[in-house]
Amino acid sequence: MSKPEKFFDENGLRLDGRRVDEIRPMKIEVGVLSRADGSCYLEWGNNKVLAGVFGPRELHPRRMQRPDTAIVRYRYNMAAFSVEDRIRPGPNRRSTEISKVSREAFEPVVMTHLYPSAVIDVFAEVLQADAGTRTAAINAAAIALADAGIPMKGLVSACAVGKVDGKLVLDLGKEEDNYGDADLPVAMTQDGDITLIQMDGNLTQDEFKEAMEMVKVGGKQILEIQREALKSKFSQFKTEEIEEAAVIETPEPDATIDETVGIETEVDESVETDTEVIETEDDNEKVGAVFVEDDANDKEPDENTDDEDVEEGEINE
Ligand code: CDP
Repeated sequence: MSKPEKFFDENGLRLDGRRVDEIRPMKIEVGVLSRADGSCYLEWGNNKVLAGVFGPRELHPRRMQRPDTAIVRYRYNMAAFSVEDRIRPGPNRRSTEISKVSREAFEPVVMTHLYPSAVIDVFAEVLQADAGTRTAAINAAAIALADAGIPMKGLVSACAVGKVDGKLVLDLGKEEDNYGDADLPVAMTQDGDITLIQMDGNLTQDEFKEAMEMVKVGGKQILEIQREALKSKFSQFKTEEIEEAAVIETPEPDATIDETVGIETEVDESVETDTEVIETEDDNEKVGAVFVEDDANDKEPDENTDDEDVEEGEINE
């Protein structure tokens, strides 16, 4: 790929015909892997990403366990065939860095304190790369986590913004990424709190402020696409199936569980001991993900670190 002569046409449109503030088309399929607890296939422009979530499950070796919380592991990986030049399989400096910052992008939303001593594994496999793969992977991982029924305060959405030929552009394409002046990938919660921000290149302070405004708008658009994908998967199930699939085991039977993304939930008192059944009241709004109000996270972590308890159902396998 060589540097294009110009990045904008006479109408100000980009190489692929987009406006400066337009994201590439995104397609999301939920629950594509039968062996994962949650999964997602996402296409974004020419990016193709598969995310799988496993857990919460007991962490081995046990010495790695944290008695007050689950840990989240996130592996971003590019398939050897995902780029023009073959990539050597296995972790490298870039994938290690992306895995770390992506894991941190989920820290504020995943309610890890509900699963002491457990691990939640997130795998993001890039099958085809065309700029913006870390953000594509985060968008897919958020859906996979929701599909796995991991309690979250909300979804995480990610998008990059950058500068090309002196102009700010949303969601950089491949040439814009390779030959542009700046690349600023950002992840955010549904409330607009930033959970990941990185930058290549240079922006002035004013450009940076404007870029952040642009990327927040992009993030909101992506959030809508993510919500629609989740709704379209879970709205096809009957209420009984949702009840069965949404049994969340928590250490505190009276923990307040509520939804913030189109799901109505309530505690079923008839269910024994530590189990909560999430029910949907509106048949058209059934989503398997569990989102929990902010203040629920403030309660004391479960003190009980007894291994037996863990085996008896602290972890939702
Ligand atoms: O993909 P993302 O924009 O998050 O990360 P990047 O490091 O800015 O990479 C930009 C693009 O360069 C990737 O999406 C790939 O298309 C390409 N790339 C590549 O061809 N070979 C690599 N080893 C890494 C990236």
